[in-house]
This record gives sequence, C-alpha cells and structure tokens, in this order.
Amino acid sequence: MEIIVKDTVEEMSQVAARIVARTLNAKPNAVLGLATGSTPLGLYKELVRMHREDGLDFSQVTTFNLDEYVGLKQKHPQSYHYFMDENLFKHINIPKQNIYIPSGTTDNYEAFCAWYERRICECGGIDLQVLGIGSDGHIAFNEPSSSLGSRTRIKTLAKQTIDDNARFFASPEEVPIYAITMGVGTILEADRIILLAHGKNKADAVAKAIEGPVTSVITASALQLHRDVMYIVDREAASSLDMLEYYEWIQDNMVHAP
Ligand code: F6R
Repeated sequence: MEIIVKDTVEEMSQVAARIVARTLNAKPNAVLGLATGSTPLGLYKELVRMHREDGLDFSQVTTFNLDEYVGLKQKHPQSYHYFMDENLFKHINIPKQNIYIPSGTTDNYEAFCAWYERRICECGGIDLQVLGIGSDGHIAFNEPSSSLGSRTRIKTLAKQTIDDNARFFASPEEVPIYAITMGVGTILEADRIILLAHGKNKADAVAKAIEGPVTSVITASALQLHRDVMYIVDREAASSLDMLEYYEWIQDNMVHAP
C-alpha cells in the first residue's frame, strides 16, 4: 500500500485527478469505479476542469458506481444517480450508455445485482476504483461484519452511517435504511484502487484500515490484501496513524511522484 499525505483537500483531489487522467491517457476506454459522498467532490471538480481546459476525454470511458440508496428515484436530489450527474457526468463527454449505477428502484434486486456483477466482467473489469471511507471503516456500503468476499447486494446501513449521512437529508428519518452496494469481493477485483479521506472524523477509520488487522469489522482493512492500493489522505485524516513519519519518508523518496 502507498500512503500519500497532503496538506489540503485540494492537493489531495489533484493527486487523485492526475491518477485518473494518467489512467485515461494510457487506456482511453478504461473502466472506472466511482464513489459518491463529500470525499470525491474535489476530484470530480478537477476532472471537469481537466476535461474543459486540457481536453481530458471521456468519450470511450465506462463507469460503475459503488452504490445507491434503495427506494430513492433517480431524480431524487439525494440519490447517487442525481449526485453523479450533477457533479460529474453532465459536465464531461461520457456517453450515457457507458454509465452504470446500481438501481435503487428495481423490482428484482437479486437479478439486478447478478446483472451488475456480470456487466462489470463483460466490460473487462474495473481498471481504477475510487473509494471513500465511512467513519465506521466501510468501503462502498459494506458495513461492519460484511463478508470480505461479498458481491453486489442489498445491505442494511449501520446507525452510524445513517447519522453521518443525515446531514444531506432534511431529517435523519428520511435517510434510507437500505442500500444496494458492490461487495468487498467485487471491489478487490479492481486492477488498481485509490482511497481518499479527509477530516478528523475519518482518522480513526483510516488508522484501523491501514494499521489494524484485516477484519470484517473495518471492511476497508480488506484493501491490505490488494496488490495496488493508494491511500490519499489529508493531514487530519492521517493524524491517528502510528507510522505516519515512515509513510511520509517513503512519500518523500518515491521514484515516481503520484
Ligand atoms: C459512497 C460510498 C461510501 C462513502 C463513505 C464516505 O459511494 O461508497 O462508502 O465513500 O460513506 O462518505 P463521505 O465522503 O460523504 O464522507
């Protein structure tokens, strides 16, 4: 694992955007795995800027989003369909048919989840997966005790996640209790993974994911098993890491700057 610590969210987002841009320059028809939430907002803003100013091309790109709330229509302002459209898709030249986001309103979730997994394989697998992390250590909506081999399915959200996400809704009662989410096993099959985190409330989860044991209680800890993972975090999110000095020393002496 590589751990990159940046002073600001902007710098963090720029590192992540450069990695996405390099991936697309090397493979214009790359398959990206995308996250929602407040964490990747800076990354998406920078990708939109790169598209407008530097001509970063998404015309052959395919994307798969990690998750969606069950029960929210695509046009609901808190749905992840709406979020992705507002913050990325409507500003870049990705063909609509290349965008995949789990359906929160299908009448057959089991069949949908199996199809979503199949589609990822048919498209050649995910080249680069972007992740955030929940304050309880989840990746996508793989809450504590999710199997580390889990696939796309419906999950009940943890109380902590509902409370964390209540800030986006008028009241905590409006936060959906279920989500459809890629599994930990699905995520681990991506070729390359970058996990972004900022802010003090992620520090504990980041430290447990990187330095703690691999455990389904902190599903991000499963990334320790992946051969190509980069954590890109700000100083606050890095503040509980025991070996921070060591990671920074490696960062300062990297052969290729990220
Ligand atoms: C969202 C997702 C979640 C978030 C996590 C952090 O697609 O997969 O795992 O990344 O809940 O959310 P924020 O970024 O809002 O703190």
